[in-house]
Amino acid sequence: MSKITRMLRLTRSAIFLLGIRIYNTDSAKMSMWSHLILGTLLLVSTSWSQPLVLDEAAAITYLEEYDRLAADMSYQYAEAAWKYETNITEETLANMTEWSLKRSDFNYREAKNASRFDLSKINNQNISRLLRKVMDIGTAAFPDTVKLEKISDLEGEMTSIYSRARGCLNTTTCLPLEPDLVDIIANSRNYAELTAAWKGWRDASGRNIKKLYPEYVSLLNEAITFEGKYKDMGDYYRSSYESPTFENDVKALFLELAPLYENLHAYVRRRLKEHYGADKFPSTGHIPAHILGNMWAQDWTNIYDLVAPYPDKRTVDITKALIDQNYTIIRMYKVAEDFFSSIGLYKMPHLFWEKSLLVKPVNREVVCHASAWDFSNKRDFRIKQCTALTEEHLLTVHHEMGHIIYYLAYKDLPYLYREGANPGFHEGMADIVTLSFQTPEHMKKIGLLDAIPGQNDTEGDINFLFRMALSKAAFLPFGYLVDQWRWSVFRGETKPERYNEKWWDLRCDFQGIYPPVERSNADFDPGAKYHIPGGTPYISYFVSFVAQFQWHKALCKVANIAGPLHRCDIYSNTIAGARLNDMLKMGSSRPWGEAMLKITSGTSGQTDKLSVAPLLEYFDPLIKWLQENNKKYNEILGWDKKNCPNFLSPHILSGSPRVQNITFILTMMSALFSIAISIIEN
Ligand SMILES: *[C@@H]1O[C@H](CO)[C@@H](O)[C@H](O)[C@H]1NC(C)=O
Ligand SMILES: *[C@@H]1O[C@H](CO)[C@@H](O)[C@H](O)[C@H]1NC(C)=O
Ligand SMILES: *[C@@H]1O[C@H](CO)[C@@H](O)[C@H](O)[C@H]1NC(C)=O
Ligand SMILES: [Zn+2]
Repeated sequence: MSKITRMLRLTRSAIFLLGIRIYNTDSAKMSMWSHLILGTLLLVSTSWSQPLVLDEAAAITYLEEYDRLAADMSYQYAEAAWKYETNITEETLANMTEWSLKRSDFNYREAKNASRFDLSKINNQNISRLLRKVMDIGTAAFPDTVKLEKISDLEGEMTSIYSRARGCLNTTTCLPLEPDLVDIIANSRNYAELTAAWKGWRDASGRNIKKLYPEYVSLLNEAITFEGKYKDMGDYYRSSYESPTFENDVKALFLELAPLYENLHAYVRRRLKEHYGADKFPSTGHIPAHILGNMWAQDWTNIYDLVAPYPDKRTVDITKALIDQNYTIIRMYKVAEDFFSSIGLYKMPHLFWEKSLLVKPVNREVVCHASAWDFSNKRDFRIKQCTALTEEHLLTVHHEMGHIIYYLAYKDLPYLYREGANPGFHEGMADIVTLSFQTPEHMKKIGLLDAIPGQNDTEGDINFLFRMALSKAAFLPFGYLVDQWRWSVFRGETKPERYNEKWWDLRCDFQGIYPPVERSNADFDPGAKYHIPGGTPYISYFVSFVAQFQWHKALCKVANIAGPLHRCDIYSNTIAGARLNDMLKMGSSRPWGEAMLKITSGTSGQTDKLSVAPLLEYFDPLIKWLQENNKKYNEILGWDKKNCPNFLSPHILSGSPRVQNITFILTMMSALFSIAISIIEN
């Protein structure tokens, strides 16, 4: 949900190709022009390709000027993107596209300018790191302006389809994702109704995005490979982690987490069978994807009441407490702000309260997906969230405000360092406070809970940990697989005619869930998840879920808070806050391993790497409980990884009567064609 990664790495081309067209419509043109002319005068004696040997002083002067202009450009773009996302119209879309192109042009031009500094002559590592960042412009290095514009159009069109989509439950009732369909999936316990909401959403969103995605992929790949620096767009996304072993590293972490997930899965499956009937559960061991309380089965907190380990124990109902206590939306934000300021971090600046969009407007279309925005001018930071009075939203408020805190911590760094140490760090920071916030200790402190499980209350403790696992542990395979899908697509391993098949291979294999209705390659279920049409990398969430437990442990140790990790609340502990801030203030000025070390140093979890040990330590009492429980009921852990019930592969489909439209026929034809090709090749 971090905006920074999205603040587009979009593209565009040479100023000398486009000349006046770019700058003739905006008010900032004079400063842009004067800079361009100055830059041209300064460097006029060289051709584009010959590096000038310039000294460090010249580089420092250049970077200072760059900083000012880049921050200004980023501000302009963010305003345009904000206008679009809070008011989706043809005009606002066109305006955003225009600014994204201007920004790309700017990036392109500055990358060329920076390339004239001979990095081998620059000893100061900070200066060469900054220059490298100026030059790392992703797809913007691509000179074909028409294609770059097309990428931007496609992304705008896809997010627009996603945001306007209305999922139909029947022929008369069609509802938006937020809040209606999300609510049904969260709260309905009616199998047929859940199925309708699940299918309706995918028919309205993913299916309509399907036809746009292949071109988007091939254009991004074409643009990113142009310079010869990256193999494909996935390779570029992964480069944010500055590690050649990143892909294998996350895979190893994922495998270490599998036993936790499989135990949780087996237990939840048994309990859901009791409710929905064993006939809904195939012999392969998969769980229907739509009965886990979340549209993507990525967070299972909403079915807590169905599966609680000790249902007779009074369950915590924060949503009810919020309503009973007449909470307002603003108060939810004030509570989050209070947490951060209690540990010595920042208050929200006044522009935050003035300009954020905190409730869904009634008279216009908006992108409701919650996000936190940095306008790059050191004072304008906003949240956009269609906030509702629920526990889930209260946590999201803390999450988005965590992003803002990170923005505030590094706001005085050079523009290019105003990012997370890696993209996962931003998401981790967004979540870390929620680990303290959700403890019964903290809930009692702020009056949302009247009693906490005592030290001898194992049942209460397990209920609490289990509820945490429904969000933090249930998420892990999904967090891992979204980019497995996307990387495979960008690598060309998964072709358009098999997009949905690959998606379900991964969902069935890693999450152990299966589609409740027949799916085929005529559907495009990845498109029904915001981050795919939105072009937002996803592995950062997986990294964040691992890292946040490392940090939580480190902060609890630094602050000397006794007791188990899952009951530690850092509220009002300024020592913990200061340690956290030390890391946040680094932004991306150093490789992320150093930032990891900064926060963990001197604790038993000291490391400069990702580690799942703190996450497993946090859940240890629950893991033991789940293992015992699964044994008691003779549950077989896991599922048939080779089988994905309800997914119709192309050759089965060819005899089916479900041929409905031309898209489907075309998909069929291309699928058959590719089968024919592979037969010939073999
Ligand atoms: C939404 O954008 C349109 C331009 O497309 C503009 O006329 C309208 O005033 C905007 N609405 C709001 C509430 O900003
Ligand atoms: C490198 O340059 C920065 C300015 O960008 C300066 O603050 C820093 O002291 C320099 N470091 C060294 C080792 O000269
Ligand atoms: C917990 O239980 C043990 C014995 O089972 C008892 O000695 C101890 O006092 C109890 N502690 C609390 C806080 O109730
Ligand atoms: Zn986020």
